[in-house]
Amino acid sequence: MSNAPGTSKFQIDLRRHLRAQNICDNLVHLMCEIAEASKYVINAVRTGDLGVAGTSNLYGEEQLALDVLSDRIMRKRLIHSGVVCNIASEEMDEIYQCQASADGLYSVAYDPLDGSSLVDVNLAVGTIVSIYAGCDLLQPGRNQVAAMYILYGPRVSLVYTVGDGVHEFTMNNLMEFTLTRENVKMAAEGNIYAPGGLRNKYNAGDEKFIRHLEEKGCKLRYSGGFVPDINQVLMKGKGLFMYPALNGSPNGKLRVLFELNPMAFIIEHAGGAASNGSIPILDIVPESLDQRAPIYIGCREDVKTATAFVNGGKQEVKMEGSFVNG
Ligand code: AHG
Ligand code: MN
Ligand code: MN
Repeated sequence: MSNAPGTSKFQIDLRRHLRAQNICDNLVHLMCEIAEASKYVINAVRTGDLGVAGTSNLYGEEQLALDVLSDRIMRKRLIHSGVVCNIASEEMDEIYQCQASADGLYSVAYDPLDGSSLVDVNLAVGTIVSIYAGCDLLQPGRNQVAAMYILYGPRVSLVYTVGDGVHEFTMNNLMEFTLTRENVKMAAEGNIYAPGGLRNKYNAGDEKFIRHLEEKGCKLRYSGGFVPDINQVLMKGKGLFMYPALNGSPNGKLRVLFELNPMAFIIEHAGGAASNGSIPILDIVPESLDQRAPIYIGCREDVKTATAFVNGGKQEVKMEGSFVNG
């Protein structure tokens, strides 16, 4: 993308960058509306009530006031955008229909505030968004037309893909998102890992994989927030996040529609991979809004190694780091 005379690449704002993508105006408008809504979520995170809302979500998890407020901010913005057909939220029990017709419209699945329980200890949290053309939200993630997340950390950043590269924007002092990284790419293999879930509930294959990573000298980097943990693997371009099946929770914890599909779409378009241990996350055909799946996501060689261990294919690690195939 060439810059207009006198402007550096860092003055390219989100709307301008989206307009240079081969996408229709309605999608540009929708993604800019989501970016605008995130500014109200930021305000809620920074100053809002940290208490419980007295309600629970689809998963029976207690909702925080911030979950409910962030969800309301996102939903209102999507409804008033005029280009949304159906909405699904991690915080809503069922699909919300904005408009019946699907022509030229989009459907959105989102997690309005992922990691909300981390806000009261001042750790980074985020909003995760998955966008499909038309009105069907129970499609394989590979059919997404766009995926994005907003990370509320020391800086506020927004990362998106519409299938042609992964691009990062950072919020400036005027609360505008300006381009800071373009066409982010991941290495084939990395040296950091983010192991979610209770280790004493890991299956043998996952335990062996973690030992393999430790023997390789990989560094453990886990904050408990899916968005900052994925962002770290993506922006450092080297590493893997996992939230495996656990004893008692064969599908792990993370949600296919609201968390796994958008992140898998972004990571794959940065040259990485995302698997449930058997098939790519993006090939899962969701059967329900609340479907969960185990996930191994990040550098493609690391994901390949993880799935081999999970499927019993890697027995011992030879000293020189190559494996004895079982
Ligand atoms: P949410 O706050 O939307 O429910 O998501 C929390 C998720 C995700 O952010 C993170 O990867 C995972 O919970 C951490 O789970 P554990 O606390 O079990 O590690
Ligand atoms: Mn979440
Ligand atoms: Mn959430």
